[in-house]
Amino acid sequence: MNSMNLDLSAVLLDEHRIQARVREIGAQIAMEYKDTVPVLIGIMKGGFMFLADLCRSITIPLELDFMAVSSYNGGTSSSGAVKIRKDIDTNIEGRHVIVVEDIVDSGLSLSYIREYLLNHSPASLKICVLLDKPGAHKMEALFDYVGFQIENDFVVGYGLDYKNLYRNLPYIGILKEEIYS
Ligand code: IMP
Ligand code: MG
Repeated sequence: MNSMNLDLSAVLLDEHRIQARVREIGAQIAMEYKDTVPVLIGIMKGGFMFLADLCRSITIPLELDFMAVSSYNGGTSSSGAVKIRKDIDTNIEGRHVIVVEDIVDSGLSLSYIREYLLNHSPASLKICVLLDKPGAHKMEALFDYVGFQIENDFVVGYGLDYKNLYRNLPYIGILKEEIYS
């Protein structure tokens, strides 16, 4: 057994369930974008594992880029201000863009990313999130593809972190409150 497991109160989504859902979303994207070469923009760092699996289940040509934003101070709640830490390198003007993000919590990061990318005049912009916490939204959260809707727990694994740890877990678990309180 993995020692990181001891910090979890439960496994919320096991590897098998995540992989099955990611494959479904990938197949849907491949179908919907079949006559285009979309640009997938992974939001670092949390989105890295989802992006890696998702892009391998999309069976059409595509381009990849990365963006890093921070609205978080490494803790469990949003700081309110979003900053770009790494910008995209691709010229997305006239391109079909799909943002790949780990989780929607308050919705602040995604709304910032959406506005920012729309200013670069893509032909279309869709947003794909692995997890959504509907109970945590503080603003309208617009996205087009979602893996799973979850409760308001703090989750880690499959890219998601607490203080930059747990990202390498292949499944998603609920972090014990005693770890972050
Ligand atoms: P938002 O801007 O409040 O929607 O926060 C989104 C970002 O906060 C995500 O991209 C994650 O990086 C981080 N985040 C929100 N909830 C969690 C969680 O439960 N576990 C780990 N990271 C989270
Ligand atoms: Mg994130």
